Order: sequence, then structure tokens, then C-alpha cells
Amino acid sequence: MAERRTAAGVDAAFYEDRRPAGGAAAVLMHILGVSCYFHDAAAALLRDGVLVAAAEEERFSRVKHDFSFPARAIEFCLERGGVAARDLDYVAFFEKPLIKFERILQTSLATAPRSGGVFRQAMTGWLLDKLWVKSLLRSTLGIPPDRVLFCEHHESHAASAFLCSPFDDAAILTVDGVGEWTTTAVGRGRGSDLRLSEEIRFPHSLGLLYSAFTAFLGFEVNEGEYKVMGMAPYGRPRFVDDVKRVVRIGADGAFTLDLDYFSFHYSTTRSFTSRFEQLFGPPRTPGLPFFTESSGYPAYYGEKPGNFHELARENERYADIAASIQAVTEEIVLAMARHAVDAAGSTRLCMAGGVALNSVANGRILRETPVTDLYVQPAAGDSGAALGAALYAWHVVLGHPRGFVLDRAAWGAVPSPDEIRAVADGSGLAVERYEYEDELVDRTVGLLEGGAVIGWVQGPFEWGPRALGHRSILADPRRADAKDVVNVKIKFREPYRPFAPSVPAERAAEYFDLADPPRHLPARFMLLVTPVRECARARIPAVTHVDGSARLQTVTADTNPRYHNLISRFGEATGVPVLLNTSFNLRGEPIVNTPHEAFSTFSRSGMDALVLDRTVILKGQS
Ligand SMILES: [Fe+2]
Repeated sequence: MAERRTAAGVDAAFYEDRRPAGGAAAVLMHILGVSCYFHDAAAALLRDGVLVAAAEEERFSRVKHDFSFPARAIEFCLERGGVAARDLDYVAFFEKPLIKFERILQTSLATAPRSGGVFRQAMTGWLLDKLWVKSLLRSTLGIPPDRVLFCEHHESHAASAFLCSPFDDAAILTVDGVGEWTTTAVGRGRGSDLRLSEEIRFPHSLGLLYSAFTAFLGFEVNEGEYKVMGMAPYGRPRFVDDVKRVVRIGADGAFTLDLDYFSFHYSTTRSFTSRFEQLFGPPRTPGLPFFTESSGYPAYYGEKPGNFHELARENERYADIAASIQAVTEEIVLAMARHAVDAAGSTRLCMAGGVALNSVANGRILRETPVTDLYVQPAAGDSGAALGAALYAWHVVLGHPRGFVLDRAAWGAVPSPDEIRAVADGSGLAVERYEYEDELVDRTVGLLEGGAVIGWVQGPFEWGPRALGHRSILADPRRADAKDVVNVKIKFREPYRPFAPSVPAERAAEYFDLADPPRHLPARFMLLVTPVRECARARIPAVTHVDGSARLQTVTADTNPRYHNLISRFGEATGVPVLLNTSFNLRGEPIVNTPHEAFSTFSRSGMDALVLDRTVILKGQS
């Protein structure tokens, strides 16, 4: 009988009596979900509708945002599930390549000859691989074609949110760049069924609008969106009226772009036009350091330039543009959220698609709309659609009742004890091994209290873009200089990228303005930005953003016990049960997977100690 998971404290009783009819023993079915060829490629394996393993390809290939066929992620999922590829009952692909190809061809024809580049890229790329996904899945996995299912892109997103949520009945909102044609969809889920009843179609896209501003502000599309969100609090939204000239918004949040300002639908290299530049001025030069009067000049940038004030003013203008696109995005998302719950007659909302990773907007949905319960899964972007496609196949296509809630984030590979031993033995550094968890935790607390920056590797790696206490870099958030220390030693991030606080769910309300924190699963996945309580800001300066907010992560004892234990004991020792948590990687690299990768990153950075399961490796001692 397969293991079943229920959300602790979140409708657990509801799921107790909704297990598959006849018991799990009646069925033993494996469904592999796959997403690739657009954004982050990933695979997820379900056994009788319960998630067994899920991983993004980048963790194995070490190529950030790897979108190629996820051969290694698939191999990992099959190995973890103990199932051979030929024994898979179904493979569910996250979108319908033929319809997507049709959209690209139709758009290319409508915008010819400007779209020549898009057309050529489509003809070569698509005809080589993407169009023949079914043959590729058949040849690589050895399964017959009638076992390959194709789910529409936004149905995969919708399924990835609703079907593993703790809700039996909820509104659904999916918002991203684009799938086949749909860029935004609204619908409702009930039991094991879901329906998307309204949509907005390409080229009108909130994701592509935000990405156009991301590119304009000098950041890489599909990577720098977080930077725009983080930069926004340094500015004032004084360009909102200008942003509303390029996107018109209806009362229900429906929007249309003025295509005179955009070129993403016919260009492979540029997403906005010269008319956009006439409105917002010249684009920000990529790679230039960002600072304002309020951020000051970070020590790790080097010597302060003589024309600091002039450069700061220039940056403030870009921060004002970031604040403006963020404000308009929030206005649209909030209006759509209100509309979705109103249409569904529910106060519960499930969201997915890249825009659902906008944690500032998510926080406002809970604070400012009738939504009482929000669910966003940790891999809310395209990687998560692999899980969505598999869930869609199990519940909607095959009609099985619900029985699984995604209430935790760690579904990846586990570090092997042999590899940990080999890494420690070959490190040439001082190594400590702890038989008991409490000893390990107390030692780690002591190091953190002493100002150490620590690499923390425990259990399976996380599903989605956030490090949530399994592949994290940790520091003491009470120190005002901790942010600079982590940046100087490891991250070299600009000041607009705040570090996140991890806090036991049961203590979160003392520090953050969030009612009943254990109830909100997106907070477990670092997908809600909330205000830091006025009285707590001075206690955790390193994780409080310039506007007094934080992208908190709540940690529960049942879903992440060792990390919960660590933060709780840090709280007992210091009076502050909060840790600074940032992802375990160097700039531009994917988050580490194996102990070897963790040690390599540790060695190339200024981290002081590395904790691999119950082994501690210390720099500066041997
Ligand atoms: Fe998507």
C-alpha cells in the first residue's frame, strides 16, 4: 500500500475520509509527469496519485533553468520510485506541442516579415524535437504511444495547484507568460474535477508584460523577475499611468496590451519597441551596480564612486519604474483573484503559473481580497506543470478521488552517506560527526550564534526555485551586518535582493503580520511577503526589507523536523526563533544537489562551516 500524505492541521480530517475508494491496494499505478522545452524542465512521479519524487533537471545537469528534455530528472524519479520506464502506466506531458506550434506559426504569419527570426527558430527547433515529443518519450522510455497523454498547458498549471491543494472546492487562477494560446485562465475545482471557464490569450500576457520590464531594467528574462520585485520597494510608483498606457485593465482584471509597445510576439531578441523607450526612457544597462540613497553603497561593491548621488538618482528612476510595473501587476492579480473567487462562489483560491511566484502579490491577496485561504505549490512555474499533468491524468482523466496534499517541498535526491563520508575524509579540514540530532543541532546553533555562515544540506532537495531548509545557507538574522557578511562571503547580491527569514510556524505571528500562520501553506514555500511586525523589525534587521516586509518561510515540525528543531533551539539560545535562509548556490549557478557540489560551493565561498546530514566540516581548522 502506497504511503499517503495529508496536510497537518490543514483539512487533515477532510482527507481522512476521501482516500481512493476500495483502498490504495485496489490500484497500483505509476504516472510520470514531464515538462520541458520552454522554461524549467522537470519530472514528477505519482504512485496511486501520491507524489513519490519530483525534480527539476537543472539540479542534475547543473545548467540553470535547463529546459532540455529532463532525462536525468526522469531517471531519478524512476529510481526513487523503484519502477522501470516500461512499467509506467502513463506519461503525461504538460502541454500540447501541436497547438503551441500552430500559435507560433499563426503569429509569425500575422507579423511577417518582422517575425522572420521567430519563424526560422520555430521551424528548426520545433521540427527537430518539440513537435515529436510523443516519439521521443516512446523511444527513450520504451512505452507505447497510447500511454502518452498531453494536457493543455494551463490545465497542467491549474491541476498543479488545485489537485494537490488541501481544498475540496476552490477557485483557480493561472497566470504566466504563455502556454499554447492561453496566458491567463480562471476556473473552479471541485473534488477530482477542474474546469477553466475563462481565459486571456496570447499576445496579451501579464507574464510577458512583466518580463518586458524585467529586460528593460537590465535583467535576464525568466531569472530577473525577482530582482524587479525586490527593487520595487526602493522606488515610488510614479509611472503607473505610463504603465497603464501599455496595458489596459478591466474591472475583473482582464487586460489587453497595446502591441505598439511590444515586440516579443515577432522578435527573438527584444521584447519592447522604440515607442516603449520613448515612454520610459533608455533601458538600464545590464550588469551595472544598483544602489540608491536609501540603500547606501554596499561595502562589497568596492570604493564608493565620486558621483554617487548622480548615479543613485538614475537608479531611483529605474526603481520607480520597477515599483510602477509591480503596482500594476498587483492591481491586475488582485482584481483577477477577486473575480475568480466571486465567479466560483468560494473564498479559497489556488494559483499557478510563473506570476503565482510573485510573493508580494500573493501576500496582498490574503490581506486585501475576500480570499481566506490561498494555495500555491512550491514549483508554481512551468516545472510544476509536470506534476500538474500527472495529477490531471490521475484525477480528471482517470477519475480517481483526491487523497494527496502537497504540504512540503522536499521531493528530490537524498545525499548518500558514502558520498558524505568521502567528501569529509577528502576535505583536509576539521570534521565532526554527531550520532544524535540534538548534538548536531546544538553545535550548529553555537556556530550560528558565533557569527558563522553555514551551508546546511539535509534530506531530499527542494521542488521549485526556493531553498527551504534542505539546501540552504544559514546565518544569524539578528546581526545588522549579516546581510553584508553573507553577500561579501558568498552571494555578492545587490541590496534590492532581500534575504528570507525561516521561522517555526507556531512562532511566526510574533514576528510577522500574518494571522494563523500554520494555516497558510504558501508561507511554507516562501511564497508570501508579509509586513514584519513593527516591534520585531529591530530584532531581525538582516531579513527585513527596506519597506519593512519579509518573504517569510514558516517551518513545521512534521514536514521539516530537523530544520524546525534547529530554528527552535536557536530561539531558545538567543530569544529569537528566526534564521536567515538563502539558497545554497553561488551567483548564477543552480542550487546544489550532491555533497560533492555542496563541498565545492563551500570551498569556493566564504562559508565557515558545512553541515552534511550529521557531519560538520569546519574551515580554519584542520
Ligand atoms: Fe506556464
